[in-house]
Amino acid sequence: MSTCFHNSSIRARAALRDVAALRLEGRVVGLSGLAADVAGLAGHLAIGSRLALHPRDGDPVLAEVVGFHDGLARTMAFGSLQGLGPGAAAVAPARRRPGGMALAAPATLSPCAAWLGRVIDPLGQPLDGRGPLPAGTHPRLVRAAPPVAALRARLGPRLDLGVRALDAFTTTRQGQRLGLFAGSGVGKSTLLGMLARGAACDVAVLALVGERGREVREFLEDELGATGLARSVVVLATSDAPPLLRREAAHAAMTVAEHFRDQGQQVLLMMDSVTRFCLALREIGLSAGEPPATRGFPPSVFAELPRLLERAGPGLEPADPAAAPGHITALFTVLVEGDDHNEPVADAVRGILDGHVVLDRRIAEAGRYPAVDVLRSLSRAASGCLSGEETALLRRARAVLALHADMADLVRLGAYRPGADPAVDEAVALAPRLEAMLRQERDDMSPVPRAARQPGARSQPPQAPVGISSIDAAFAALRQALTLPGDADAT
Ligand SMILES: Nc1ncnc2c1ncn2[C@@H]1O[C@H](COP(=O)(O)OP(=O)(O)OP(=O)(O)O)[C@@H](O)[C@H]1O
Ligand SMILES: [Mg+2]
Repeated sequence: MSTCFHNSSIRARAALRDVAALRLEGRVVGLSGLAADVAGLAGHLAIGSRLALHPRDGDPVLAEVVGFHDGLARTMAFGSLQGLGPGAAAVAPARRRPGGMALAAPATLSPCAAWLGRVIDPLGQPLDGRGPLPAGTHPRLVRAAPPVAALRARLGPRLDLGVRALDAFTTTRQGQRLGLFAGSGVGKSTLLGMLARGAACDVAVLALVGERGREVREFLEDELGATGLARSVVVLATSDAPPLLRREAAHAAMTVAEHFRDQGQQVLLMMDSVTRFCLALREIGLSAGEPPATRGFPPSVFAELPRLLERAGPGLEPADPAAAPGHITALFTVLVEGDDHNEPVADAVRGILDGHVVLDRRIAEAGRYPAVDVLRSLSRAASGCLSGEETALLRRARAVLALHADMADLVRLGAYRPGADPAVDEAVALAPRLEAMLRQERDDMSPVPRAARQPGARSQPPQAPVGISSIDAAFAALRQALTLPGDADAT
């Protein structure tokens, strides 16, 4: 699939074809690292303008303006700068402004329903070998601004995610944005696949930013599968793609999600990972001449990050009060290595989003998947959508798990004498039941815990009628886990 990144020349030509009348032409005057400086166009360009750089021989390569200095436009390319030298032509498609001045056109994408089931690159070209991608009727700005805050709809009702640990412990509302904090190999891709297949959304949009090429097919075929893919649009830029393309993947996925949201649909956007998006921004910022500020990240990273994340969430309040607004419910993966949850990207993301899910390596190593550390995970919008009884159940479950975590070592070493403290005895009895409730195999997307459904299991399965909401089923499982045989009322 990475071959597609070498096709930027074809795309550049396609972009040029669209320019009917206006064509701005400048010259490449300098090349350093990943950047090319263009003279003669600065007055007609803006940050984000696209142009095609023409090597003396070979196909043009698409580039984008990332900064200006000394009257020159600094650009970075979506492909390789190989073959370019001083004097190469830089051509920008342009449109005329009302005042008569020519300005290079901003990037757009035209998503439509036919994009469902497709894997595309950040410039809107198909990567799945399944033929051309039809274009929708309305081009949308790839770097659109978030909707005006005061005119946005409020968060919707709770959204069934189909993963018990999240449904109960980080109950999520339509339009909520969560961070998924995890190290490598603790089950992020598996969890995202489960959500793409099982969540009660109309459309899933996946942005795979900086993913290793080798793992892409595995993810598409094993985790997403035909069912997940059928209602998804996957936007992909692998780790070998130039930084501009990796950044574009995040914006392009957001643009696709906005298209479906603005049609009143419930969209689940999953971005893996926002850390690699920030690393791409860092490469771009440093190439544009910005100074590194926070742990090597230039300031523009922390200006662009909220602009991206704020685009997710509820859409504008519909004019017709009877119409239901669309939402982008979003999950942004943040890579945390060595338990460093305070590195700058994690910090910035936590401040912007409405909750976080933490995947813990020790839990994964102990074999409990999904390895959600429920004590460290939180949905800030949950309180607005839980009943009093559900809140009480959660409070009790958290207290039991916290006490058990505190006492586990003493119990294991035999330093705790059963009977010494009734609360500890209860935690020792209940914790394994809660762990069993949290455990969920990747293919087990039914709302009822698998163990509880096995014939001969000692406890009765929760009474979950067919079609029950997965959140209700998760709380039924929690209620049951907290009810020891013989208890009349657990809460
Ligand atoms: N729900 C699950 N049930 C069973 N096993 C799981 C589950 N989730 C993850 N695993 C196991 O954990 C392994 C790693 O999972 P996964 O590839 O999803 O992690 P990752 O965080 O995406 O890794 P990377 O950082 O390498 O991308 C899987 O190969 C699988 O064996
Ligand atoms: Mg992965």
